[in-house]
Order: sequence, then structure tokens, then C-alpha cells
Amino acid sequence: MDSPLPILSFAGAAIAGTAVAVPKLRARLQLSRAKHRSLTGHAKMSRLVARLIPFYEFDINDFFNSDGAPAEVAAQRRDGFFRLASLYGERFAKGRALTLQASEKISDLQFTESYRVPFQYSRLVREHLGTSAFVQSSAGVTVTDLDGNVSYDLTGSYGVNIFGNDFYKDCIASAEGRARALGPVLGPYHPVIVDNVNRLCAISGLDEVSFHMSGTEAVMQAVRLARYHTGRSHLVRFAGAYHGWWGDVQPGVGNPIAPHETYTLAEMSERTLRVLQTRRDIACVLVNPLQALHPNGNAPSDSALVDSSRNGGFDREAYSEWLRALRQVCTERNIVLIFDEVFVGFRLAAGGAQEYFGVRADMVTYGKSLAGGLPVGAVCGRKELMRRFRDNRPVDVCFARGTFNSHPYVMTAMDEFLTRLENPAFRSVYDGLDARWNGRARQLNAMLAEHDLPVRLSNLSSIWMVHYTEPSRYNWMLQYYLRAEGLALSWVGTGRLIFSLNYTDADFAEVAKRFVAAAEKMKADGWWWREASLTDKKIRRRILKEMFTRRAR
Ligand SMILES: Cc1ncc(COP(=O)(O)O)c(C=O)c1O
Repeated sequence: MDSPLPILSFAGAAIAGTAVAVPKLRARLQLSRAKHRSLTGHAKMSRLVARLIPFYEFDINDFFNSDGAPAEVAAQRRDGFFRLASLYGERFAKGRALTLQASEKISDLQFTESYRVPFQYSRLVREHLGTSAFVQSSAGVTVTDLDGNVSYDLTGSYGVNIFGNDFYKDCIASAEGRARALGPVLGPYHPVIVDNVNRLCAISGLDEVSFHMSGTEAVMQAVRLARYHTGRSHLVRFAGAYHGWWGDVQPGVGNPIAPHETYTLAEMSERTLRVLQTRRDIACVLVNPLQALHPNGNAPSDSALVDSSRNGGFDREAYSEWLRALRQVCTERNIVLIFDEVFVGFRLAAGGAQEYFGVRADMVTYGKSLAGGLPVGAVCGRKELMRRFRDNRPVDVCFARGTFNSHPYVMTAMDEFLTRLENPAFRSVYDGLDARWNGRARQLNAMLAEHDLPVRLSNLSSIWMVHYTEPSRYNWMLQYYLRAEGLALSWVGTGRLIFSLNYTDADFAEVAKRFVAAAEKMKADGWWWREASLTDKKIRRRILKEMFTRRAR
């Protein structure tokens, strides 16, 4: 019955409204609390901050003392810088000339060349320490550039190179011979696909496979299928985790449009588990196990190395425990747990991250190394999740195609890769893998400590990152000293060193020797001078002040 007093019905409506609003508010609050407290955990905020940061740069007069170093230290740095510059000028002459020419029309190259170091220093570094974007050959664990310089390859080809470049050359050469009779005929399959599928199902412990052209596409498809089958909208990714450059997995800086169906939550967090336990709109959780090396941190590029706060450290047991907890809540809530093993699959163990951490996912994406060096992405999943149509609603399908999916040359190269992997003699490469790489990291760290150098390494097996033990604005300079010692790095510099597993102890000893030599030269050139009271916080405050001054102009 309606209340005869309008005020009472108003009060009743207000109470009912509050009853509805309170759980919503609580859920909203719970979600906010499950975000990582850094900017990495706050996509919207990070985009806003990115828009506020003004451009400014150091010219030759303030480049060497941007940390307030006295004149004699700045002069020492300047001498070191120009000594390196003349060495680079001579040693990389051909490669640099071609790089300059190519970068006029290759936008990707313009980007990577500009973002090797913090932007304030970028122009002068580009002018004087330009490197070559070209190599002409590879052999063993080395690459040779256009000028004939041989360097130890620490780039790992973005993670593709697990077993050494020669291994992939062999896979591709054999694959080419086997696919030639068919050629690049697309649509119908090369029969080898059947073996590939069976082996991938055995490796992943899952029922079905779909093939794509890249890791990004594999992740897109896994998420799309999870949404289709759960009827829920949102994906959960963890702060800092890379899953390719597709919009839904890149809600922060780098993507001009914010996705609305992505939650970026803190990894290794009870609060995140609580969100998963309570929300009803979550279709899937995406895990990139590489994050175990730096949970909730971005891919550690030297372009963001403005101080020494970058840190890493891998705790296998703690990360395994986290994955077990995730597994449990996903099972309870019918959330699809997706391991994105595009990077770490086949590197940590023959059975990938699932085997390494002892936790099974509902879907797994692979890529990079899987096709023996050719481009690929793959999704493995449980049967009921992989299906792209429904019996009871025949028009409600989940679409995914791609011109080059299942390309015959890619399929034969994948067969070459998986056949080698199956061979017990080859597989022994995984025996004692962690002990070997942890031992090598300890060895290099001990050498650095012995030489009193403010540099250390942490590692997830053969994936390493460099961090710095004392506050400094100039740590990014180390990449140029390392290159001068004949160590080839990818464009993220010291943020990620990726070793292939064919590094022998002797190869590694040589790399370690050169690494220490590079750091010693950098130290001798004064880059790590600091006022005793300098802290990372003070550095950041100084940078903020520089930005405010620039904005105020
Ligand atoms: C974990 C992960 N997922 C997805 C991708 C994207 O793969 P691709 O570059 O082949 O598109 C990458 C690439 O680095 C990755 O590391």
C-alpha cells in the first residue's frame, strides 16, 4: 500500500536506494583498494601524469652535472662521454650511417632510438653515442654487426632465442625444405599441423589449440573466448604486466583510448583475491609469469631509469603460492585463468610455467620461440573454452581468423622445434637450469661487490635485470659502456638481459669479465659520484622541480 504521507514514501525510497548503493559502493571501494599503489597500478592517473610532463632537455652545459656534481666531476664525465663517442664513431661508422638513413622512414626505429635513455638526455646521447640498428650475422652466442664487430648477444631476440641462433637457423632451413612442395598455400593445412597440435596439447595438458600470427593475437583470442563462454565482460591483468600491444591489455600510457572492461590489480595481493571472490563481472585473469622477477613493476627499460629505485628479485616459492591461491579462487568463481607464456614458455622448463610453478591454467598462450624462429602465437585451452559456437544458438559465434594463421612454413618450423624438444638428449638442457643460472648471477654479483661497484643483477633463470645499489641519475650510461665492451643489448638497455641456454661457462665468464670492466670504466669516469646525502627521493624531487620550472615558463 502507498504511504499517505509523501515524506514517508520519500524516506522509504531513500533507504531502499541506500541499500542498493551500499554494496555497490563497497565493491567499488574494494576494487580501488586492490590496485597497486604505484602509478603502474593506476592506468588513468598514469595517462594524466604522462600528459602533464613537459619536454625539456639538458644541453652540453648541464648534461654532466644534472645531479649537482662539482665542476671537476662534470669534466671527468664529459671526457668519458667524448672518449666513448669517438670510439663509437670509429667502431660503428657503417652501421650508424645506415641507421640514420633508415630511421628517416622507419617510425619504429625513431621511437626506439629516442627512448633508450631518459628524455632529458636523449638528444645528446643520440648525437654522440648513436648505435647501429643492424647486424649481419650470428654464430654461437655472438652477433656480428655491419662494421664487423663481434658482440656477445644478450638481447635474446625479445625472448625468442632460447637455444641459440644456430638452433633456429637449423629449424628454419629444414622447415623450408619440407614446406616447399606446398609453398605458401593458405587455407588448407599442411599435414604436419596434426603433430604440432598433439604435442602442444601434451605440453600444455590442455585439449585444443588455435594458431595465430603473434603473441598479441593469441592473448586477444584467449580473452575473447573467456568472455564468450563466461558471458562476463572484464579481464583482470596485473600492474606492470605486458601482454602485447592490444588495447584491452594496455590501459595506461601508450594507448590513446582507455579500455573500459579491464581491471588492473595488484599482483601477490590478498585484496586482489577478495575482488576475484566477490565480483561477478570478471571473465578471466591474465598472468604473465615473467612478472615473478619484478611483481607489479613495468618492463624495466633504461628510458625510465631516472634514479636507482628499480628493483627486482625472484622468489619461486612465494610466486608459486600466489599462483596456487589464484588457481583456487578462479576455480571457485568460474573465472578463466590464463597463463600468458608467450615470453617464458619453453624457457623455464619443457612444460613451461605451468610445470615450473606447479600450477595448471585453463588456457595458455605461447609464441616467440614456438615456431623455431618464425612468427607465431598459439592458444591452448580446455575443450569447452575453445569452442567458437553454441549448439543452442547457432548464430551467436565467437569469431577469430587471420590470413597467415597456420602458415605451412611456420607449421613445419614448429614441428622442427617441437621434435628437437622431444628428444631426451636435447631436453637435458633443462637439467639443473636454475642452479646454473642462479650460480652465474651469484658469480657476477660477487665480482661486482669485490670491485666495489654499485651494480647488481637479479634473475629469473636466464632472464636477468640490472639494478643499482646507490642513488644516481646516470645509471643509464652503463648500457653504452657495456656495448663498448662488446655486449649487445636490446633497446631497453640494462633493464633486461636475456641469455640463450647455449652459453657455456667459458662464454659466461667472458661476459662477466666484460661487464665488470664496463662498470669499472663508468665508475672511473665519475658517473657514480654522489653527494653523501643524496637519496632516490631527493633525485625525484629535483626532477619534479625541473618540470615545474619548465611548465611555469
Ligand atoms: C607475455 C607476453 N605476451 C604477449 C606478447 C606479445 O607478443 P608479440 O610481440 O608476438 O605480439 C609478449 C611480447 O613480448 C609477451 O612477452
